Amino acid sequence: MPVETRTPPARPLFSLEGRVALITGAGRGLGYEMAGALARAGAAVVINGRDRDRLAAAAEALGATTGGRIDIAPFDVTDAAAGRAAIAQIAATHGRLDILVNNVGARDRRPLAQYGDDEVRQMIETDLVAPMLLAREAARLMVEQRHGRLITVTSIAGHVANRDDPVYTSAKGGLTGLTRALAVDYARHGITSNAIAPGMFATETNRHLVADAAFSAFVDVRVPIGRWGRPEEIAGAAVFLASDEASFVNGHVLVVDGGQTIRM
Ligand SMILES: NC(=O)c1ccc[n+]([C@@H]2O[C@H](COP(=O)([O-])OP(=O)(O)OC[C@H]3O[C@@H](n4cnc5c(N)ncnc54)[C@H](OP(=O)(O)O)[C@@H]3O)[C@@H](O)[C@H]2O)c1
Repeated sequence: MPVETRTPPARPLFSLEGRVALITGAGRGLGYEMAGALARAGAAVVINGRDRDRLAAAAEALGATTGGRIDIAPFDVTDAAAGRAAIAQIAATHGRLDILVNNVGARDRRPLAQYGDDEVRQMIETDLVAPMLLAREAARLMVEQRHGRLITVTSIAGHVANRDDPVYTSAKGGLTGLTRALAVDYARHGITSNAIAPGMFATETNRHLVADAAFSAFVDVRVPIGRWGRPEEIAGAAVFLASDEASFVNGHVLVVDGGQTIRM
């Protein structure tokens, strides 16, 4: 390979013009923020969730604020056939799929002893099996295109264990492994695989914890930045990993946690 200093391209850094993205669980929360940011960077974005009305409202709001093209794909990520059909529909409508953000993640903090067999399986289905199958389907298109960005939303719980949270922690740890496995297997097809590991964000799911003064006081002490993450603070990580500027970043887990996991 020639070693040379090249003239940088004139296009803006992190531009996603011409790219097509699918983001699961994007009707609200972190997925919604990432969808908006990808659209602002120029991508055509397809948002997923189970509730069609919520998705339609989110698509309208995102379209109005970003000026971008936002389509909806209502399906349950645990329905593999529905996920396959949605990706086929994206290929038919847009002609390609460049970015998959596997963002859906269910959580139910309880000791393992309080989980039934089927409850464990259900959460692993949602948090680990579904992202794996969606990545497989998306990668089929990406291999043909010789371009793709697989982005998996894990959690700092994929690195460190919290008390009484065994199923979520196991699934997120599994997603870290999946991220690396896909990075190794698909890189030669022009596809990168990376993860985003959020820390504690003030999203709808955490509303009760944000409102809990004692818990928020704990966040202030535990997180070096001294506060909850604002949902929009996740967005830059997604745009970066989806962009051409991240073309040599592969198998990485980008932790976005205000420094929570690096402090003693
Ligand atoms: N918030 C945090 O502080 C935090 C911290 C670490 C990691 N994370 C991770 O970040 C991701 C997003 O978290 P969040 O708090 O923003 O999410 P959230 O608000 O709990 O969920 C986002 C959307 O996912 C959709 N959804 C849930 N189950 C689904 C399914 N089976 N199929 C399709 N859509 C489904 C829901 O819409 P419908 O009800 O319409 O389906 C919901 O609007 C998750 O993977 C989570 O584990 C979050």
